[in-house]
Amino acid sequence: MQNFDSAMKMALNAAEQFVGATAPNPPVGAIALDKNGKVLLGAAHMRAGTAHAEAKLLELAGKLGKLASIHTLVVTLEPCNHQGRTPACTEAILKHKNIKRVVFGCKDPNPKVAGNGEKRLRDAGIEVIPGVLENECRFLIRAFAKHSRTGHPYVTLKGAFTSEGSMIPPAGQKTFTSKASLVLAHELRKRSDALWTGSGTVLADNPEFTVRWLPDHPEKERYLVLSDRRRQVGPEWLAKAERNGFKIHFAESLEEGLDFLGKNGVLEVLVEAGPTLRHEWLESGLWDETVVIIQGKNNDDDQVEIQFRSELGEE
Ligand SMILES: NC(=O)c1ccc[n+]([C@@H]2O[C@H](COP(=O)([O-])OP(=O)(O)OC[C@H]3O[C@@H](n4cnc5c(N)ncnc54)[C@H](OP(=O)(O)O)[C@@H]3O)[C@@H](O)[C@H]2O)c1
Repeated sequence: MQNFDSAMKMALNAAEQFVGATAPNPPVGAIALDKNGKVLLGAAHMRAGTAHAEAKLLELAGKLGKLASIHTLVVTLEPCNHQGRTPACTEAILKHKNIKRVVFGCKDPNPKVAGNGEKRLRDAGIEVIPGVLENECRFLIRAFAKHSRTGHPYVTLKGAFTSEGSMIPPAGQKTFTSKASLVLAHELRKRSDALWTGSGTVLADNPEFTVRWLPDHPEKERYLVLSDRRRQVGPEWLAKAERNGFKIHFAESLEEGLDFLGKNGVLEVLVEAGPTLRHEWLESGLWDETVVIIQGKNNDDDQVEIQFRSELGEE
């Protein structure tokens, strides 16, 4: 049988470019193949309210004069069968009689809709091959999966440690990690729909929390959650954060902040806090991923350790 792994890897790659841009939708990528299995083009879902990956792919194929050559669609997520802000992808696919096969990675994590797209396509006579690189595709949408399942965002705790195990920068410095670690930190911000910090960090560092070490998603808006029950953070810093584009929320507890973010369509939140709040998060068991950066001996040999509480955002 034909192997679709490499086309699925391309679809995953296309989707990954837009992780952090699509909330409350999941990132999705799609690749079109001709009847000989040759790659024709690829596309991804770029932002909520705009075309889904399959629809985008068909639209692009039309513009490039490649529509009639498409035989197989390879998609990271099962095509949707419901009309939302955009029309159902199954119907968009079925309009094109030359499309004979749909290959997808994983089913929708919402059990109410999982399998519906596959059934609709099969009933219309399309060959459907599910489960290609399924774990990789589930990993791609782990934040969306957690949000659909629990109503809460996926929580990543980021922390940098000196070689002695301290999180506190030397006097007069805001950071002590390498350039590569700073870029990593900003990549983590870029993929997040919200950042979360504690009053201690704001008072000590006067941080910006913006994405600066790489280009951000255009027009991306993020929440900034502040753990500051005593309201020690002053109005100037709050005004600066708003000028930086953040919508501010004071969290009365970890659970309250997670409820708030989940209800506002946040799929992924990055916690950048000092040792006090970080300890609370670790104790709470409400986190999903930790990214620990350990300062190296030189300027370019930091170590990065990533841990998942559960690899696919599932219990
Ligand atoms: N290396 C790194 O990755 C990193 C990252 C960030 C910061 N830092 C450093 O960490 C230092 C600040 O650390 P920090 O521990 O003072 O600040 P923090 O952990 O950022 O904030 C602590 C504050 O959070 C508030 N808070 C609200 N809810 C809480 C809860 N459930 N549990 C615990 N705290 C809660 C508390 O104030 P209320 O009681 O008023 O609510 C508490 O004083 C700075 O030197 C900064 O440079 C390092």
